[in-house]
Amino acid sequence: MKERILVTGGTGYIGSHTVVELQNSGYEVIIVDNLSNSRADVVDNIEKITGIRPEFEQVDCLDYAGMDAVFTKYPGIKGIIHFAASKAVGESVQKPLLYYRNNLVSLINLLELMPKHNVPGIIFSSSCTVYGQPDKLPVTEEAPIKKAESPYGNTKQINEEIIRDTVASGSPIHAILLRYFNPIGAHPTALIGELPNGVPQNLIPYLTQTAIGIREKLSVFGDDYNTPDGSCIRDYIYVVDLAKAHVIAMNRILENKQKDKVEVFNIGTGRGLSVLELIHAFESSTGVKLNYQIAGRRAGDIEQVWADPSYANNELGWKAETSIEETLRSAWNWQLKLREKGVQ
Ligand code: NAD
Ligand code: WQD
Repeated sequence: MKERILVTGGTGYIGSHTVVELQNSGYEVIIVDNLSNSRADVVDNIEKITGIRPEFEQVDCLDYAGMDAVFTKYPGIKGIIHFAASKAVGESVQKPLLYYRNNLVSLINLLELMPKHNVPGIIFSSSCTVYGQPDKLPVTEEAPIKKAESPYGNTKQINEEIIRDTVASGSPIHAILLRYFNPIGAHPTALIGELPNGVPQNLIPYLTQTAIGIREKLSVFGDDYNTPDGSCIRDYIYVVDLAKAHVIAMNRILENKQKDKVEVFNIGTGRGLSVLELIHAFESSTGVKLNYQIAGRRAGDIEQVWADPSYANNELGWKAETSIEETLRSAWNWQLKLREKGVQ
């Protein structure tokens, strides 16, 4: 058994896939989640996949004393992967203080508790949202950080700075900031996946819900952008490939292989796909016809962004490997499984 790792937000979408990969690599995992955007039965499904039940504590990262007690209960935690956050961009515009409190204070609590409990490493879930609309594509880690488009995006920028400032002040912390592009898909077992709350705001859950008949039509937000087919371009990365990047990053921290105490990596495929290309890839890889229409642009959308992942490829030895077809089939299988379970 390798070291003990604390995964905040570990019953969530990316967290649950990462717990599976950590366990498959021999790590012992303790999940902390307040279940504000996930369900406790995710723990059962992780156990079904790996054969190992992770420890689970229903604690809010905002609760300093509760988090302190978790570190005391599980001594010797070597690393934290911090997924817990509120993540709905639109909601963050309506409820900025909820987003600033949840996303900033959760991290601050962890950074205060790490030296107290001798926890050396933290991996932080950052986002390509910090780049806004990049001047150059594909975007590298050196690209300037643009003014955030939403309070959510701003929490990612501020949290990156909080980590840098804390390390610069002499705190004995090692950190890796992973800037995810657009994570999609579900585990090949279809036992875990994305569980959107209410009407999905993100493309893939809306698309698969339309394909299965929960939604009538997918709206393509704009076909008049300055892109080859006029629709927006993103870098869609398979969630299992993304999960694996966390295991490699954690190994790197614990094996003291970092070049700096704070490192940043783009976690994307390096391939930009338009909304229309993605729809056609979904249709051809699943054989399911999709009802869609061209609609007006969505306020605040970035026209095009995709990663230059070469730093992660070369330095971490990690690469996104899964084809878009396989990724989209996994998202569809997950939607079919949700219907089977009666989840709408
Ligand atoms: P998710 O909502 O599925 O998972 C987050 C989990 O954190 C949920 O299980 C939720 O219950 C939990 N949580 C929230 N606040 C908490 C708190 N105060 N205490 C304890 N638990 C709390 O989201 P996800 O898509 O898995 O995202 C994980 C992380 O990755 C987030 O930080 C998100 O901002 C970041 N990220 C996500 C995407 C994306 O498109 N999904 C892209 C870039 C970055
Ligand atoms: C993808 C593309 C839409 C829905 C958001 C956050 C970002 C990051 C990932 C966390 C866009 C188009 C969508 C629909 C559509 N999260 N679309 N019809 O906007 O790239 O990023 O999630 O950090 O911060 O902003 O993802 O899935 O919402 O949209 O045409 O019904 O699909 O316009 O081009 P986005 P998305």
